[in-house]
Amino acid sequence: MKQTTRYHVALVYNAGASASPEVPEDTGSTDDLRKMIRRMAHVMRKVGYKVTIVPLANDLLAFQRKLRRLRPDVVFNQYDDVVHGALYEMRVAALVQMMGFPMTGSPALALGLSRYKYMSASLLQGGGVPMAPNTELLERIGDVDRCKWNFPVIVQPSREHAGIGLSRDSVVSTKTKLREKVREILNHYHQPALAQHFLPGREFNVGILGGRKLTVLPLAEVDYTKLPKDIPPIMSYAAKWMEDSVEYQRTSVSCPAHVEPFLAREISSIALRAFRAVGGWGYGRVDIRLDEVGQPRVLEVNCNPSLDESVALARSAEKAGIDYPHLLQQIVKIAMEGPSFDVGVQMI
Ligand SMILES: Nc1ncnc2c1ncn2[C@@H]1O[C@H](COP(=O)(O)OP(=O)(O)O)[C@@H](O)[C@H]1O
Ligand SMILES: [Mg+2]
Repeated sequence: MKQTTRYHVALVYNAGASASPEVPEDTGSTDDLRKMIRRMAHVMRKVGYKVTIVPLANDLLAFQRKLRRLRPDVVFNQYDDVVHGALYEMRVAALVQMMGFPMTGSPALALGLSRYKYMSASLLQGGGVPMAPNTELLERIGDVDRCKWNFPVIVQPSREHAGIGLSRDSVVSTKTKLREKVREILNHYHQPALAQHFLPGREFNVGILGGRKLTVLPLAEVDYTKLPKDIPPIMSYAAKWMEDSVEYQRTSVSCPAHVEPFLAREISSIALRAFRAVGGWGYGRVDIRLDEVGQPRVLEVNCNPSLDESVALARSAEKAGIDYPHLLQQIVKIAMEGPSFDVGVQMI
């Protein structure tokens, strides 16, 4: 077997004109992605891997040919499609697996599920994982009248991520406001809206690393205490990306979070169950919030969350003594012990 430090890694990410976001603010995240890819390649080369960066736009045939030619030991999947979303991410992961290459992170199904928020919430709830109550999929404005609401309610597009479609007016307290918000989402995002009872308690990000055996990384907590009272405490688009906004400037994340051991254990065990339930593999982040009585409830499972250095998952890993190069190495190693692949499927 090849020495692990000599692996040839194909680092795949989304590129190309058709992957340019419609909203000008989103260009920031595409630029950031490119910068992060270069940095990841640099770090992995330093630990001894041979790294080929493979930008992927729309041409899946060219992509297949390229992978066939490169014959990498592992595909590092950083295809995070901010524009087309779930279906595109799923098909890239499925293609890599059908070609028989080990791939970092979660398989196609888990990637799709973690983008279809209503589907994954229903599945998790069915599996006994505590979720936000009153979770409803609203495909038309009239659907608002079908349900009994326990306000406040938070409304967002049902198939986005990264805070897209979440703003100051996403938390509503009346049916009229809820209808307005649903109309806006249907018209602007061309997808159903997801509405849930708003959980007012503390919010945690739970980083997970591992394959057959999973480890929970030190918990991170979102700190909303400095936010003006008229802005709802949520990780909105502004809070995540818009550096000039009050939301961004007054929201911070602290890691490790100060949590009583009993609560930390409960949060960790719920996060692990949720990650397993959606078929997550390799690394992930589960967002959790406490309800009115302090019960942790899952907001969402992020399969293949951002691997940007020193923030989010990478920061939690650092607090566990796993530095960035080591984290990337671990993720590659875990990919190699992944479930068996569809080798033998006839491809071009
Ligand atoms: N039911 C809820 N109760 C309270 N806050 C919520 C709820 N759902 C979402 N949020 C807030 O909105 C943020 C983003 O929601 P999330 O479902 O994680 O979407 P995204 O995929 O955009 O991160 C969360 O981090 C949290 O602050
Ligand atoms: Mg989230």
